[in-house]
Amino acid sequence: MNKYDSDSISQVLINRGYEQTQSMQDANVIMVNTCAVREKAEAKALSLIGRLSNLKRRNSDCIIAVVGCVAQEKGMELFQRFPYLDLVVGPRNIHHIEEYLSQIKAGGERICAADMTADPSLSVRCNGFVQDKATSFLKIMEGCDNFCTYCIVPYVRGRERSIPEKQVIDEATYLVSRGIKEITLIGQNVNSYNANGTNGLRFPDLMRELDRIPGLKRLRFTTSHPKDLSDELIRCFADLHSLCSHIHLPVQSGSDKILRLMHRGYTRDTYTRLIKLLRNTRPDIAITSDMIVGFPGETESDFKESLRLIDEIKFDNIFSFKYSERVGTTASRLPDKIDEYEKYRRLYVLQEKQRQITLSKNLLLTGTTQEVLVEGPGKRGEAQLTGRTTGNKVVNFHAKDDLKGQLVTVRIVEAFQNSLFGEMVESP
Ligand code: 5AD
Ligand code: SF4
Repeated sequence: MNKYDSDSISQVLINRGYEQTQSMQDANVIMVNTCAVREKAEAKALSLIGRLSNLKRRNSDCIIAVVGCVAQEKGMELFQRFPYLDLVVGPRNIHHIEEYLSQIKAGGERICAADMTADPSLSVRCNGFVQDKATSFLKIMEGCDNFCTYCIVPYVRGRERSIPEKQVIDEATYLVSRGIKEITLIGQNVNSYNANGTNGLRFPDLMRELDRIPGLKRLRFTTSHPKDLSDELIRCFADLHSLCSHIHLPVQSGSDKILRLMHRGYTRDTYTRLIKLLRNTRPDIAITSDMIVGFPGETESDFKESLRLIDEIKFDNIFSFKYSERVGTTASRLPDKIDEYEKYRRLYVLQEKQRQITLSKNLLLTGTTQEVLVEGPGKRGEAQLTGRTTGNKVVNFHAKDDLKGQLVTVRIVEAFQNSLFGEMVESP
């Protein structure tokens, strides 16, 4: 989402005649887009903002802005900590960024725009950022009403707002007309699309509409919440040709006690039943997830439940995190906090287990043929191309031609932890 927002901001400014620079030294405007979901991400952003003071000292005309979730969370406090900042803009206000910049350039006061009731920035067409690309994100909703007890997102991104379906469909059609072959629909909680009293299309119907766009080869979405994974959505995996065989379905914990404390709204059993349904519907579906270790009150036996769940489900991959306390969240007031070292140990154990599962899942793909959407040259050069399977696995292979944007068939010959290597058997 932040990557998408950064592109949108850049596009708004490019439309108004700004140009992108390659180095911060050459810039007259520097914007730091920030994430507040965990302390580490926030600390990185604050440290970068701190380092910008030297630059401002050398070039006092350079406008320095902090945007995104840390801007929303800290607001005016950022001006006290970093007196050289000119602009602080929360995620709901980024579509006004050009007005704020004009006011500051015209000699106005510094601005803090953190109005949570504003509509999300909806309609920026990132035409410069999809040029020569095969894949694109497309934001369909923003914000979250779930209030998982550990999570700051509802406080900084605000209530769920959906982007009108006409706008989504028009944007998708435009992206395809620009050569995009794969669209990933993004939102904090995509299956709540249009859930709040609007009479518009619900998420599965939106996907059915998008599936009809000629030339759209692949559709993905992220992130969806297990408690809202409806039968209609699962049916899309049976019916929709363009929908890829991958779902990211964050489980967070394998312990019912911890899931309850997290306010997730499902049990371990409900989650595993959903996985079975998904696998019955699309036998080759890749399943990835998020997990948190060391949530307050997580005992060794709760942690073991998470390990057992990983063993049972055999996710293709997991993003796992140490619980990070966020000010203002319900979990920050819970007793029985877990010691930092113990959180680290649990994270290590969990990641080791998942590493083995990921590798063995990748190894299972050797000898198979996979359809790969070519995204561009591989990192290694040497006439290598890179792309992804429908299950979202990275595949590198040798090819002489530039096949970007094409679907090719590749036989997998080698499997690694984070990628596959193959031989092209057929060009389109
Ligand atoms: N501490 C650790 N992980 C968190 N996440 C969200 N909030 C926190 C937190 N306070 C993780 C969840 C979520 C992912 C985007 O980030 O696993 O799914
Ligand atoms: Fe945070 Fe939960 Fe909303 Fe995800 S569903 S953004 S974890 S509150």
